[in-house]
Amino acid sequence: MKKGFMVVFDGSNGAGKTTVIKGVEKYLIAKGYDVLLTREPGGTPIGEKIREVILDPSTPEMSFMTELMLFGAGRAQHIEEKIVPALAQGKIVISDRFDAATFSFQHYARGIDLDTIMKINDLALAGFSPDMNIILDLDPNEGLKRVHSRGEGLDRLEDEKADFLAKARNGYLAQAKQTPERFEVIDAAQSKENVLTDVIRVIDTLLEKHH
Ligand SMILES: Nc1ncnc2c1ncn2[C@@H]1O[C@H](COP(=O)(O)OP(=O)(O)OP(=O)(O)O)[C@@H](O)[C@H]1O
Ligand SMILES: [Mg+2]
Repeated sequence: MKKGFMVVFDGSNGAGKTTVIKGVEKYLIAKGYDVLLTREPGGTPIGEKIREVILDPSTPEMSFMTELMLFGAGRAQHIEEKIVPALAQGKIVISDRFDAATFSFQHYARGIDLDTIMKINDLALAGFSPDMNIILDLDPNEGLKRVHSRGEGLDRLEDEKADFLAKARNGYLAQAKQTPERFEVIDAAQSKENVLTDVIRVIDTLLEKHH
């Protein structure tokens, strides 16, 4: 049986993650692959409940440590309940955000020290790691414009200041620089079609490597 692998789409809010994931799913299904779409925070029934707590705009008082540990708790459940079994069945797992977001938002943007982040994240991951992170890189102001044009309200994390979102963006770029073998950065300011073309080039390389 073909071995599964996991690709994460990450980047600024409104960069086009959900849009491009739909295109990638279509592409892979047309080629006959078994695909599992998932997301963080969320991905499991417990994880989706945790997501509601994390993103609830009515509780801005949430402490940074609470937030970090909730992300970690959801991730532990996600890996054990959903991701590892799907990979064992040979599926291609695609997640809308994963652990790179924790480094970008909780470390680079919130300023929680790296040691603390690594402790919680290592506990949550328990040795697991996604095969590739595809970062959709976009000026967060452009991302916010896209989110506004989508016509939904802002969640607790989208409602942060521009400076916070810029730091998170730089956090993704810093991680890509540090571990280039696990990151691809795509220019998300391009048209939807061109973003998808660039992404599919990365996906094709992964398919060659894993199948
Ligand atoms: N390349 C693009 N150019 C212009 N608009 C885009 C592009 N990609 C997506 N959009 C539009 O921008 C909005 C946000 O896109 P999408 O929901 O895919 O982003 P996201 O990264 O999933 O956002 P979030 O972080 O809020 O989940 C949508 O209305 C979408 O149609
Ligand atoms: Mg989305």
